[in-house]
Amino acid sequence: MSDQKWTLSNMPDMSGMTTIVTGANSGIGYDTAKAFAQKGAKTILACRSMDKANAALSDLKREVPNAQAEVMQLDLSSLTSVRQFVDSFKASNDKLDILVNNAGIMMVPFGKTEDGFERQLGTNHLGHFALTGLLFDALQKSEHGRVVNVSSLAHGNGEMDFSNLMYESGDYNPSKAYGRSKLANLLFTYEMQRKLEASGSNMLSVACHPGITQSNLANHLFDPWYMKPIKPIFNMLLQSSDMGALPTIRAAVDPNVKGGTYYGPDGRGQRSGYPVVLKSNRASRDEADAQKLWEVSEELTGVSFLS
Ligand SMILES: NC(=O)c1ccc[n+]([C@@H]2O[C@H](COP(=O)([O-])OP(=O)(O)OC[C@H]3O[C@@H](n4cnc5c(N)ncnc54)[C@H](OP(=O)(O)O)[C@@H]3O)[C@@H](O)[C@H]2O)c1
Repeated sequence: MSDQKWTLSNMPDMSGMTTIVTGANSGIGYDTAKAFAQKGAKTILACRSMDKANAALSDLKREVPNAQAEVMQLDLSSLTSVRQFVDSFKASNDKLDILVNNAGIMMVPFGKTEDGFERQLGTNHLGHFALTGLLFDALQKSEHGRVVNVSSLAHGNGEMDFSNLMYESGDYNPSKAYGRSKLANLLFTYEMQRKLEASGSNMLSVACHPGITQSNLANHLFDPWYMKPIKPIFNMLLQSSDMGALPTIRAAVDPNVKGGTYYGPDGRGQRSGYPVVLKSNRASRDEADAQKLWEVSEELTGVSFLS
């Protein structure tokens, strides 16, 4: 099979599989959940707003009438919510086959999560770290458990400054903080794969990025009156969210995927196109930073696994 044009037609049957997609009410997460449901997987839309989740579920059931899909509340900016979500999931599910850590916020003003973490690192990385750790035993019960972390081209803009991880020193920059959180997604993916291999597990930890894709992620940047005329032009430059979801979907289901790889679009500048294996930047492959981030994430979230 050509590596150039992997599409939904390459997806295997997913009957009998259980999947969770975080942030599945919108954008890339919605299209990922829809594709899983189309292939017969039980699909859990893990969303912070139940109103938005139920609206997305209605859309999904209209598009995929026989979908085995359901919604569950999950706010990644609250460790209490992450724990409650996992407890509810385990109350009615024995195993988990695929976890897609997709939810995210981008370039938001400085703020803290319920647990006092800088908002972008807290939501995009630490919430997902805790979620993955708490679901780890359920993933181990699958014959082919897989975790997919959705990163970004913006990882290139991030730096892991462990002495100022939460921007305590007051030099917060929304773009740099987003870059840091997306760099953390990659460091986490690769470190998890190393730990899985060391433990003899056949579970896979994989990363991806969607290029530049239409979604609600940047909506807040167009709130000021002077930005409004730019929005339609900006949107014309972006690929559709069904295309943007393809790297995530391939990373999650292609049987040829290897752990510790990174999928993204094959077009110019990786902005659009069909999913292929790519190389993330040097900082994302720094093993010392990855180990350090794992330790710090365990300490901050109180969730330990694979250690
Ligand atoms: N679009 C792009 O060009 C692009 C590029 C690179 C990377 N990405 C990554 O792709 C992923 C999906 O983003 P998207 O573009 O599809 O954006 P989106 O349409 O804004 O979707 C993001 C989803 O994350 C959810 N979310 C935000 N904070 C949450 C929280 N605290 N707890 C639970 N869910 C939360 C959102 O919920 P609400 O609807 O309630 O806000 C929404 O469902 C993100 O990780 C993003 O960093 C996107």
